[in-house]
Amino acid sequence: MRGRQNGSRVPSSPAVPIVTARLRLRPLRPDDLDALSEVYLHPQVQHWIGPHTRDDVVRELRLQREHQASLGWSFWAVEHRATGRMIGDCGLQPIEHRGPETELGYDLHPDAWGRGLATEAARAVIVHALGPLRLDRVIAVVRHDHVASQRVLEKAGLRQVGTRMAYGEPMLLYAADRMSPTDPPQPDLGPRHLPPAPS
Ligand SMILES: CC(C)(COP(=O)(O)OP(=O)(O)OC[C@H]1O[C@@H](n2cnc3c(N)ncnc32)[C@H](O)[C@@H]1OP(=O)(O)O)[C@@H](O)C(=O)NCCC(=O)NCCS
Repeated sequence: MRGRQNGSRVPSSPAVPIVTARLRLRPLRPDDLDALSEVYLHPQVQHWIGPHTRDDVVRELRLQREHQASLGWSFWAVEHRATGRMIGDCGLQPIEHRGPETELGYDLHPDAWGRGLATEAARAVIVHALGPLRLDRVIAVVRHDHVASQRVLEKAGLRQVGTRMAYGEPMLLYAADRMSPTDPPQPDLGPRHLPPAPS
């Protein structure tokens, strides 16, 4: 919520797009609606995120673009570099679109599951959030039975810190904090300066 703390000044978003070994994360565009709808309206995705209509996806896309414009961060489009396909979203938002905390989230098309891509995207977002964006804390909420997402969060460096009600349900609460100067150095997860994606 850094952009709103000091009034009208909108922060720039350094280092977006974020490029990882297999992925490119960039701000969502209006023409992502069809690809994003394929993700959000897929039954296997709705099993975890609840029922969505195409109108819900239109609203979600609009809200994410508003967050990007006002805060300099949002859920970003996740593109598979080798194919150029937009396979979902991953990024940051004020939790439940209200805040005050900043929430990590991700939604990938089931075709892309099981290859470590959500972990790759989430790790890059956390590095970006606690690094260039200089956010102090990123949280995430996940259902008690969503073991795959819990694994993604753990591998992205978040730890379980409690429980909380969110999105109308009791959830596990995870968090990652910006390092203090006394913390030991972390492994370099930096997504920059990587070789081109395999063709
Ligand atoms: C959650 C989600 C992003 C995971 O995507 P993914 O690309 O398959 O995730 P990854 O491959 O990076 O890692 C998944 C991890 O969960 C594990 N996993 C997958 N399915 C699992 C299951 N049913 N039970 C236990 N663990 C499971 C995998 O083994 C892997 O852990 P490992 O590396 O230790 O083996 C994807 O399922 C998704 O988009 N779901 C719909 C939207 C959603 O749920 N968003 C999050 C809401 S909190």
